[in-house]
Amino acid sequence: MSRTLSASEAGPAADAAGDYAAHVAELGGRYAEAARTGGFDAIVVGSGILEYRFQDDQAHRFVASPHFLQWIPLEEHPGSAVIVEPGRRPVLVVYQPEDYWHQPPALPPEELAREFDLKVIRKPGDIAGLLPAAGKRLALLGPEAQWTGLAGEAARNPETVVNVLHYRRATKSAWELACMRRAAASAAPGHQAALRAFREGATEYDILAAFLAGCRQTEPELPYGAIVALNGHGATLHYQHRDREPQPPRDVHSLLIDAGCACNGYACDITRSYAFRDDDFAGMVADMDALQQELCAAVRPGLAFPDLHRRTHLGLAALLQRWGLVRMAPEDMVREGVSAAFFPHGLGHLLGLQVHDVGGHMADESGASLQAPADFPRLRFLRTLEPGQIVTIEPGVYFIESLLRGLKASPAGGHVDWDRVAGLMKYGGIRIEDDVLVTAGEPENLTRPVLGD
Ligand code: GLY
Ligand code: MN
Ligand code: MN
Repeated sequence: MSRTLSASEAGPAADAAGDYAAHVAELGGRYAEAARTGGFDAIVVGSGILEYRFQDDQAHRFVASPHFLQWIPLEEHPGSAVIVEPGRRPVLVVYQPEDYWHQPPALPPEELAREFDLKVIRKPGDIAGLLPAAGKRLALLGPEAQWTGLAGEAARNPETVVNVLHYRRATKSAWELACMRRAAASAAPGHQAALRAFREGATEYDILAAFLAGCRQTEPELPYGAIVALNGHGATLHYQHRDREPQPPRDVHSLLIDAGCACNGYACDITRSYAFRDDDFAGMVADMDALQQELCAAVRPGLAFPDLHRRTHLGLAALLQRWGLVRMAPEDMVREGVSAAFFPHGLGHLLGLQVHDVGGHMADESGASLQAPADFPRLRFLRTLEPGQIVTIEPGVYFIESLLRGLKASPAGGHVDWDRVAGLMKYGGIRIEDDVLVTAGEPENLTRPVLGD
């Protein structure tokens, strides 16, 4: 078991300067290829702008464009941009207004800034004077609102460019891997604190508070809305509420917590499921944990992810059979859609600057799509695994009323022990999710070593 990193070790590190320089050089190569493919002389990558609530002076939380964040982790910098002209040093434009209502965005630290020509602007429109000369073919990336009234002839988010960048984003640089390892390390004390709170009978609201305090992140900083689901709430895959009403211990049965942290804009995505007492559901959770670890260990380059999804269904079907929920051979359960009624989502997805990262359906840099398999037409991730990709592995079993109603009405419904299922409804479901790096050999599980479970 590996130790858990402390918060300071898990924070953005200054020791990664070499990796960061190599990362910027790698991105420069990708952008040069994207520019060549699209027929552009330069690509300008905007961070986005601050958006306001309808007829209100209150802004939404700013979330920088992932294209911009991949260049430099300036997460609180609306109106900024990176100008990429192949063959030249990239230019970093930081919008830093004079503002005494808010703390103006900071300039980047020297170990990041030195990879760029740094330009500071005080008004958003000042970027116009920094754009490559008229006559150059420009592509502008990022939310289009940032480019209103600027470079009217320039292409906005051209697909030819975006396709190259999205396809390539699946493969992480050493610097990106370091950020993602740190994101996992930050989340670990949060998950441990959440488990302690659950054991003490805390509400969903208090379990989330324990998670946030454990990882020292605010809720808006999380890479996705944390899912903290007690009891039957676990059957809602993306359950979003936080009950505050304490339950007597006899009414507490289970916790499903799907919550991650971000580091420099890079996410981790971690789920754990727990039983409140030592009962059959606890046994099913342990069984699921063993299956999940087998699936993580099977991650190898050259493996088509839909094949691993299919293997997951067979494993889950065997679990349903073992625990007496369904009396059918696992192969038959998968073919008849029985396992799908208990596991209606995909095994996993690409992870990175977005929790469900882009490019999962892409066949190549041209934007062509991979064909989903006929038996699983709605998977998020269809690609063949390659070293450098980080994927989630998140099998689950849920007791979802609407899906079970459909199963009951189907020919296979007669093979289900409905009394057994009825007794499990109060637990909601089980999901166990780790983040796994594909390497040339053994996969690296980013989650287990820091969670220590
Ligand atoms: N946290 C959302 C997911 O696991 O995909
Ligand atoms: Mn996930
Ligand atoms: Mn998740």
